[in-house]
Amino acid sequence: MSAPVHHPLFARFYTHVLERNEPAELRAMREELLDGVSGRVIELGAGSGANFPHYPPSVTEVVAVEPEAYLREQAQAAGAHAPVPVTVLDGVADALPLEDASCDAAVACLVLCTVPDQARALAELRRVLKPGGELRYLEHVRAGTPRMARAQRFVDRTFWPRAFGGCHTARATVAAIEAAGFALERHRDLRPESLPSFLPVAPQAIGLARRP
Ligand SMILES: C[S@@+](CC[C@H](N)C(=O)[O-])C[C@H]1O[C@@H](n2cnc3c(N)ncnc32)[C@H](O)[C@@H]1O
Repeated sequence: MSAPVHHPLFARFYTHVLERNEPAELRAMREELLDGVSGRVIELGAGSGANFPHYPPSVTEVVAVEPEAYLREQAQAAGAHAPVPVTVLDGVADALPLEDASCDAAVACLVLCTVPDQARALAELRRVLKPGGELRYLEHVRAGTPRMARAQRFVDRTFWPRAFGGCHTARATVAAIEAAGFALERHRDLRPESLPSFLPVAPQAIGLARRP
C-alpha cells in the first residue's frame, strides 16, 4: 500500500505562492496541454486545480485525483467554478479509484515527477483509459546536458524532494511513457523563459501519447 501523501507546507506554498503567481507562459502551456481534449478525463494529482479553467467544452467530465488533503480542498473549490463538470477524489497514482477503460483521456501535469513509482502510475493511467484513449502530459524532465543532469541527480539525492512535496528532477519521463506502452503522437520539448536557468525543473516536455 502507498504511503499517505501529506505535505502541508508544500501544499500551502504551491497554492498561495506558485499557483497564484503563475506566469502567463505556464498558463499558455496548460491551454496547449488541454487543447482538443474531449469526453471523460482523469486528471492525476490535480493540485489546487490550476488546469480546471483550461478544459474545453468538449470535455464531459473531469475526475481529478488528489491525495493531499489541503490541495484536494482547494481543487474542490476550484472545481465548483470550472467550465466543465469536475469531481475531485482522494486517491493515489498507484491505485486509481476508477474502473478499467472508463476514461477517454488522462492528464498528467507536473505530477510524474512526484509519484513514488512512475511505471506503476503510468500502468494505472493506461488501465483506466479506453483503448485508443490519450494521455496528455506536461512534465519537467531529465536535462540533456551532463552538467545540469548531474545537478538534478544531486538535488534529488539531497533536499529537493523534501522541500517540494516529493518532486524529483532527473526523471526520464517521456521514455517512461513509451516504456509503459503508450505511442507518442505529438511531442515538444520546452525551455520556459519564465524559469530562471539555474532551476533544475527544465527542460520540460509537452505532448500526447496514445494507448494502443
Ligand atoms: C507540483 S504539484 C502539480 C499539481 C497540478 N497537477 C498542477 O499542474 O498544478 C504535484 C501534485 O502531485 C500530487 N501527488 C503527490 N503524490 C501523489 C501520488 N502518489 N499520487 C497522485 N498525486 C500525487 C501532489 O499532491 C500535487 O498535487
